[in-house]
Amino acid sequence: VEAQNIPITLVEGSDITALLPKRKRNTHKGTYGHTLVIGGSRGKAGAAGLTALAALRAGAGLVTLAIPASCNAALELHPLEAMTLPLPETPAGTIASDAADLCLKNLKNKSALAIGPGLTTHKEVQDFLETLLPEVACPVVIDADGLNSLAKIPGLLAKMKTEVVLTPHPKEMARLINSTTKAVQAHRIETAQEFAQAHGVTVLLKGAPTLVALADGRVRLNPTGNPGMATGGTGDVLTGMIAGFLAQGLSGSDAAIAGAYVHGLTGDRVADELSETSLIAGDLLRALPESLQQIL
Ligand code: APR
Ligand code: MG
Repeated sequence: VEAQNIPITLVEGSDITALLPKRKRNTHKGTYGHTLVIGGSRGKAGAAGLTALAALRAGAGLVTLAIPASCNAALELHPLEAMTLPLPETPAGTIASDAADLCLKNLKNKSALAIGPGLTTHKEVQDFLETLLPEVACPVVIDADGLNSLAKIPGLLAKMKTEVVLTPHPKEMARLINSTTKAVQAHRIETAQEFAQAHGVTVLLKGAPTLVALADGRVRLNPTGNPGMATGGTGDVLTGMIAGFLAQGLSGSDAAIAGAYVHGLTGDRVADELSETSLIAGDLLRALPESLQQIL
């Protein structure tokens, strides 16, 4: 192992069985939390749609999908199970800065927030995040252009008051620390661990293998996943799964560890059945229920 003094352990299936919430008989959808997903832009609305569906498949009781208004017509019909919140948008079809108030109002009854997939990093989106993120009170998973925006706004992460999970791929990690993908990949464990400890967040650094660095300095290695998952949108599914677990009351670190494991296991099962080559992100959504069946 590259890092001698870091407490690293391998995640096992039995860990995940212990973490995941089981349905109790006398409960209702409110018991399982309401997730808000904020993302999407013209041409990338599907990213946020995948995240919303994944949160539902991971067990969130309710999901609301906040997207630029012009994406609403499409996403109101698929997924049918998610409610939508059409947001003010820029002429370029990205979320406008004055959408922050609407999102904060909507967040009042939410148990978790997923933000980033398909967002873009336009100036207005950055202004939107700068207003929104310091005011969020529920646990948050930040992905994709949410991370790329964080990298462009120094000090914003420090202003957040709530539990935060970051899910960078190596290039997004490099942007966050103003480094290069090559340098991140050469020191994956230390890089994720340092960032998690310095900022008091959970860092899920994607790759083969994915690792989860906890704010307290511990690092967990995820054994599941395969190169068939290197296809657009699989990361957006992971983000939604983590948000769905957060909504059901898991801590940021537990949600990230469980998300990485179940996501990779699902990818492995789909690859066995359909080949690594043909795997697409939607397959993970369809196969997720059987993974949970196996684990729960
Ligand atoms: N082995 C194991 N897991 C893998 C492998 C591999 N060889 N390749 C990919 N994966 C997994 C990663 O661990 C991660 O969970 O697939 C997922 C890919 O996620 P992302 O890199 O975020 O890819 P994607 O979903 O296409 O992202 C959509 O967001 O991150 C931005 O730039 C990205 O614009 C793109 C968008
Ligand atoms: Mg991604």
